[in-house]
Amino acid sequence: MHQKVAIITGGAQGIGKAIVRHLLGRGMAVVMADIDREAGRETLAEFKKLGKVRFIPTDVAGESNVRKMVAASVKWFGGIDVLVNNAAVMANAPFDQLRLADWNRVLAVNLTGAFLCAKHAAPYLGKRRGAIINIASTRAFMSEPNTEAYSASKGGLVALTHALAMSLGPQVRVNCISPGWIETASSRKTSARQIPRLSEADHKQHPAGRVGTPDDIAALVDYLVSDAAGFITAANFMVDGGMTRKMIYV
Ligand SMILES: NC(=O)c1ccc[n+]([C@@H]2O[C@H](COP(=O)([O-])OP(=O)(O)OC[C@H]3O[C@@H](n4cnc5c(N)ncnc54)[C@H](O)[C@@H]3O)[C@@H](O)[C@H]2O)c1
Repeated sequence: MHQKVAIITGGAQGIGKAIVRHLLGRGMAVVMADIDREAGRETLAEFKKLGKVRFIPTDVAGESNVRKMVAASVKWFGGIDVLVNNAAVMANAPFDQLRLADWNRVLAVNLTGAFLCAKHAAPYLGKRRGAIINIASTRAFMSEPNTEAYSASKGGLVALTHALAMSLGPQVRVNCISPGWIETASSRKTSARQIPRLSEADHKQHPAGRVGTPDDIAALVDYLVSDAAGFITAANFMVDGGMTRKMIYV
């Protein structure tokens, strides 16, 4: 059997980094496609001992960038089995002050980026009965004020998931994970790393009793890309400690 190959966008830090570690642990060869060179180089140095891993600087919002990243992945490792669309940015601002350029950038990275990566990886994924995982957010379904661009991009990603599942099945399964509050301050590059400042109340308000970790998301990615998940496609999974099901009337 061939060694499976995974591309993780935004894989250099945070949740993406945990996904890279989990898939390396599963014996896959992994390509981290991230716009942050400093983070990419640092994570590459950290993970080299875990298996076959490469970093390629990529802006997922640019089609020529994505085309090059996919071609390099195939050249390095011979094909693609898994694509995780995880890269994202936020531009929160009062609705009436949100600049069109910022709205467009958030949509371009978070939604168009996933479309471009899927488009260029699909021919290779199809040859290997591959899987795509889109990392959306509970903000696709619920909101705080002043989050229009991010929420809209994530809502679009949930819809893109079921559309792609219809177009690419049965060769490629496409699923979505919507994380809730995941603590990532401690898994950023060294120059941006912070000690998490989580209060008792932050944890306690979750029906699961705690804030989430990147490993909570990576563990589900691990399962969804495995053969055991062969009947699961076009689905969205809330991984939020129960917060989206909690009534909060005061
Ligand atoms: N952390 C949370 O609480 C949370 C909650 C819900 C959803 N999410 C989602 O999970 C995913 C990961 O979040 P995170 O908290 O780890 O974020 P993060 O900011 O720690 O990491 C995102 C990574 O994406 C990279 N990136 C940004 N723009 C890019 C681009 N144009 N091309 C390629 N790479 C790019 C960044 O350099 C970074 O390494 C995102 O899709 C985010 O929306 C996170």
